Amino acid sequence: MMKKLLISAALTLGLATGAMAAGGEEQHIEDFAFSFEGPFGKYDQAQLQRGFQVFTEVCSACHGLSYVYFRNIADEGGLGYTEDQARAYAEQFEVFDPELDDFRPATPADRFPVNDGVGAPDLSLVAKGRAGFHGPYGLGINQVIRGMGGPEYLASLLTGYTGEEKEEAGAFLYENTAFPGGWISMAPPLEDGIVEYADGHANDVHHMAQDVSAFLMWAAEPKMMARKQAGLVGVIFLTILSVLLYLTNKQLWAGIKGKKHAKDDA
Ligand code: HEC
Repeated sequence: MMKKLLISAALTLGLATGAMAAGGEEQHIEDFAFSFEGPFGKYDQAQLQRGFQVFTEVCSACHGLSYVYFRNIADEGGLGYTEDQARAYAEQFEVFDPELDDFRPATPADRFPVNDGVGAPDLSLVAKGRAGFHGPYGLGINQVIRGMGGPEYLASLLTGYTGEEKEEAGAFLYENTAFPGGWISMAPPLEDGIVEYADGHANDVHHMAQDVSAFLMWAAEPKMMARKQAGLVGVIFLTILSVLLYLTNKQLWAGIKGKKHAKDDA
């Protein structure tokens, strides 16, 4: 009962502050629901694989993941590929080898290469480096309640194109409701059906945006599940310790407190 009350109070506060923040800024961030939210949240392996497919077929043409090695796609708790699959996957990419002074097919020990020249930022940490939720008024209450919202920001960015574009100093800019400032130089990378999912999942822009954002969250924090688990063990341990300390404390003082009462009564 108490818990329900607390949660609904927190939600009301969150919604109210969210509305305030939204009023103060133009940026529009949709609150996508991700499987890995909350203290018990987990990555959805099928979703990570779909997002990985979107990244491979669309985003990797321009963006690199300089903190992710090809072998990482075979890591436990992540995408769930085998080492052979990681090797076969890596071979699709070419990396520049300074020792050979030439390009060669990538191996699992290489990182996702960046395509220099198009000015696309590295996406390894972007899911952690961007905050979707702000305020109110710089207090960060929204972030405490709803999280940083990095993946929400990414998914909102990918679905936030209005269709308006303009040319400025020879460069094209596209209007986007999630991008700070409202105009981004990345053309809308997704369109309905652009990726044919291996698992037959819905492939409209909305779903693809959410899947690739989940994948980028994994890229930024592959050990999130292990970290949450460690945190949970810590909380349980501290709870038990607190109860024991409370009982010990009571036991230790029982005699003395008892005497005081006896005096008072007299
Ligand atoms: C044709 C090249 C190209 C493709 C394909 C592409 N991007 Fe981009 N992306 C860019 C460029 C260029 C920028 C820099 C835009 C700017 O700062 O105005 C960018 C910026 C971004 C940003 C940074 C936004 C920020 O907050 O700074 C994200 C996130 C992003 N892209 C995600 C993606 C994802 C996800 C995909 C695949 C679905 C993708 N991009 C496909 C070229 C591309």
